[in-house]
Amino acid sequence: MNQQQMIENFAAVFKTQQTPDIFFAPGRVNLIGEHTDYNGGHVFPCALSLGTYGLVALRDDRQLRFYSENFPEAGITVSSLDELEPRKDYRWISYPMGVIWAFIKHGYTIDRGMDLYIYGNIPNGSGLSSSASLEVMMGTLLKNCFHLDSLTMEKIALLGQYAENHYCGMNCGIMDQFASAMGKREHAIFLDTNTLDFRLVPVKLGNYKLVITNSLVKHSLVSSAYNQRRRECEDGLLALQKVLDISSLGELTNEQFETNKFLLPDEIIRKRVRHAVSENIRTMDAVEALMQNNLIAFGELMNESHCSLRDDYEVSCPEIDTLVDAAWNCPFVLGSRITGGGFGGCTISLVESDKIDAFCKELSQSYESAYQKKPEFYVADIGDGAHAL
Ligand code: GLA
Repeated sequence: MNQQQMIENFAAVFKTQQTPDIFFAPGRVNLIGEHTDYNGGHVFPCALSLGTYGLVALRDDRQLRFYSENFPEAGITVSSLDELEPRKDYRWISYPMGVIWAFIKHGYTIDRGMDLYIYGNIPNGSGLSSSASLEVMMGTLLKNCFHLDSLTMEKIALLGQYAENHYCGMNCGIMDQFASAMGKREHAIFLDTNTLDFRLVPVKLGNYKLVITNSLVKHSLVSSAYNQRRRECEDGLLALQKVLDISSLGELTNEQFETNKFLLPDEIIRKRVRHAVSENIRTMDAVEALMQNNLIAFGELMNESHCSLRDDYEVSCPEIDTLVDAAWNCPFVLGSRITGGGFGGCTISLVESDKIDAFCKELSQSYESAYQKKPEFYVADIGDGAHAL
């Protein structure tokens, strides 16, 4: 849908002549560094050109009216700045509501209601961060409409994460919101989640492209399984802290892990911690490899990341493993792995540019013969972070 159509839809939905302001925030794909962001480790995501658009007109009262083109059956949801407490029946509007709530809770003045029309072109539940893009779009919108000039994009990312943790109940790290807020065209973000220091690294892939494959599997218990992984890592950290002077798993080397793993209470926690530690090291190595144009090494690290997520962190699923195995069998693929929170969603593969059709054919055949459905493919187009249009 183009901007003009969105403006017309806004007028039709809210029956208004007011010209809306328009904001956009992207989804993200993570190249490597999975489940490290809440462990004080490194991540390496990039913003996509897909994302969430928000059209807004401020009101003279305190009413909030929300409409999403992605959930037209829900119609207009009406609330108010005086009713911001979380509610079970909120569903998708808990993301924009949660961000308004987080801003007010942090002392920002949001004192006028608004009519808000949303349209997103990230496939829902694909693990490409449609929710973070909605949160960051909302934060960017509030910054601009309420003249919060000193608010940085980094702080918008943190407020989005705060809303997701404390309003929506998903105990996520900072990666998705950070990538959506801070992304840059044709660059990936090498982020140290312990300090929020980051570096933009050009993604120069020569004859290769990044292809995202959507398994179309959506796990219904994603947030509870995710929160459980996070608790397991916290338990592991506590056990190690009895002996080691560390504040996060991101501070450990593989050798330190091997020497101290006997401190961990059980095999499950040992596996979770081994992943958090090894993935963090792999991420740093992968960034180094990319900067040296060593795509072969980068691809191998992607493959190792998948094995660790599958075996140690146990966040893959048979459908995703089928897609990754099929990619590994293609001679023109340098690396392939699950990307995002896991339990379904997407894989990312490094594929020779003029073999992309063959890649899609191979993976579709393997997937269809195992699961009787076709995966979807997107060539990753690395875009800019959130902005006004
Ligand atoms: C989800 C979370 C992120 C991150 C990834 C896994 O996308 O929102 O914070 O933990 O999973 O790397």
